[in-house]
Amino acid sequence: MPERRVMTVGMVCVDIINYVVRFPDEDTDVGSNSPLEVPGGLGNRCLDQQWCRGGNASNSATVLSLLGANAEFFGSIPQGDLTSFFEEDFRRDRVHVDRCPRLAARTPTSCVIVSAASGTRTIVHSNSDLPELPADALRRLPLREYDWIHFEGRNIANVNKMVEYVRAEREKNPELKLTISVELEKANRPELDTLFSLGEVVFISKDVAMSKGFTDMESAVRGLKARTLPGSVLICPWGELGAAACLADGSVVTSEAHRPPSVVDTVGAGDTFIAACIWRLRRGDPVNRALRTACVVAGTKVGVKGFRPLP
Ligand code: FRU
Repeated sequence: MPERRVMTVGMVCVDIINYVVRFPDEDTDVGSNSPLEVPGGLGNRCLDQQWCRGGNASNSATVLSLLGANAEFFGSIPQGDLTSFFEEDFRRDRVHVDRCPRLAARTPTSCVIVSAASGTRTIVHSNSDLPELPADALRRLPLREYDWIHFEGRNIANVNKMVEYVRAEREKNPELKLTISVELEKANRPELDTLFSLGEVVFISKDVAMSKGFTDMESAVRGLKARTLPGSVLICPWGELGAAACLADGSVVTSEAHRPPSVVDTVGAGDTFIAACIWRLRRGDPVNRALRTACVVAGTKVGVKGFRPLP
């Protein structure tokens, strides 16, 4: 039997990433040849612009593959002018996409501004008409070929049904050794809360933790653990402070962050953290070691444009 696959379920889109000196003022025109010194004001300039494949699940699949896993992305791929861009990019990164539905639709796009001055990334995303995966999407897949399925926190009603299906299959077929993980990333979306009780491993973002009133990572994982399934692990990365996890027995472990020489590109840092964590947990590492590795890999990613090179 070939090496089992790890599958990430969610979205793929095009990221148009603008690397600028500083975040632009409203109603200004920032070009690559803009003079940096302008009378009476701070200069700005577009230092670089890249078109990349993005989306949380798509990014995590890339990182898993770069770390050596047999990775698969599962989500709707828009059929149109940019189909070959997606297909070639997935192929280059050795991410399987052979089981994805291809659907005629406009390409979901994110316009991203990465500011060198502040190290922030600001994303404006649009998806006009690409349908999400249907609730029965996993029924056509050979589940025995996977050992881990990770769900991005979107398309919540259908993800609930997909997880229900995987759980039922696991119960019927004890030879299915499949771990389910989920991600809650976007703050102030109450519908995401059902995800807490869906995975054996639950990732929540700092934004989600803060939106629920927590001001530090340890109290966040301790305080939110009761919402997860018994036996599960709740993990929360907290930017330059590192990451924390609350284990099945209620104990909390932490890791400090890894600081790159300079902050170059934070787009997909959270997706990288999740991928590296899954990579280690899948190998059977204890959670504290997985957290440490994930902080190192995510910190390294923040120091480079895109996802190469990773440690
Ligand atoms: C980064 C990212 C981008 C994408 C956006 C969607 O985490 O996945 O690649 O444009 O978030 O929210």
